[in-house]
Amino acid sequence: MQGSTRIEGSVALVTGSNRGIGLAITEALLDRGAAKVYAAARDVRTLEGLRRRHGSRVVALELDVTDGGQVAEAARRAVDVDLLFNNAGAFEPTALTDERIVEVARREMEVNYFGALRMLRGFADTLVRRGGVLVNVGSVAGLSNVPLQPTYSASKAAQHSLTQAARALLAADGVTVHGVYPGPTDTEMTRDLPPGFEKAQPEQVAKGILDGVEAGEEYVFPDPFAAGIGGQFHSSPRGLEQQLAALVAPPE
Ligand SMILES: NC(=O)c1ccc[n+]([C@@H]2O[C@H](COP(=O)([O-])OP(=O)(O)OC[C@H]3O[C@@H](n4cnc5c(N)ncnc54)[C@H](OP(=O)(O)O)[C@@H]3O)[C@@H](O)[C@H]2O)c1
Repeated sequence: MQGSTRIEGSVALVTGSNRGIGLAITEALLDRGAAKVYAAARDVRTLEGLRRRHGSRVVALELDVTDGGQVAEAARRAVDVDLLFNNAGAFEPTALTDERIVEVARREMEVNYFGALRMLRGFADTLVRRGGVLVNVGSVAGLSNVPLQPTYSASKAAQHSLTQAARALLAADGVTVHGVYPGPTDTEMTRDLPPGFEKAQPEQVAKGILDGVEAGEEYVFPDPFAAGIGGQFHSSPRGLEQQLAALVAPPE
């Protein structure tokens, strides 16, 4: 457990803030009294609603995390960030038999791992100067591979490894690092899951994330499904791997 974090009065930056979990995090930060949120999105026109609702507390930032120049420009502008949420993420359904699988894996890696790495590199100085907080939005699929999503899981595992590195390397500089591991959540990303598949609501996940950050939890499992996986991850990582493998086991 790390020290607790105060959101009220803080300045935050959220990548992929225009929809899904990122939008819910942004709204929740503002509800909890954040002084300012840099709402980052690839297309700033998608942030109009947020700006209308919250006025000057929302600062729109054009940011594609695969673009090193845009990340550097965002880091030059947003020098007062206390809390950085690496939330932007990409998932493309694929199977091991798909001949495009390497391209799909590269695209997911480019956003989920290299994107988070670029942001960490760009904002490390600011976070150290402000004794800030890094929140990497990973996935339960990054703790043990979900074979239904093989390449996405691998990209989230790489991101999880980066979270561990950041925690070890930045602790001495006073930066707090949280890994967040949500379960299935009702956003665009999961629109193709079979009907009846249980999903958490993004607002519920955002609340779980901010509660975990405020409480200083290093591993945040923000919804009931995630909490179940988290318990198994801590008690038996190998058992969790076997349970997820059983999801794709051929019928006997
Ligand atoms: N939904 C789930 O079940 C679930 C579960 C566990 C973890 N997560 C993680 O939670 C995070 C948010 O996912 P979500 O469910 O809210 O998905 P979503 O609704 O598909 O939203 C993805 C967000 O990421 C942005 N994004 C994608 N590529 C980007 C890039 N190159 N640069 C900047 N932004 C980019 C999208 O922007 P555009 O609008 O421009 O495309 C969008 O704002 C992701 O990291 C995801 O892996 C999701």
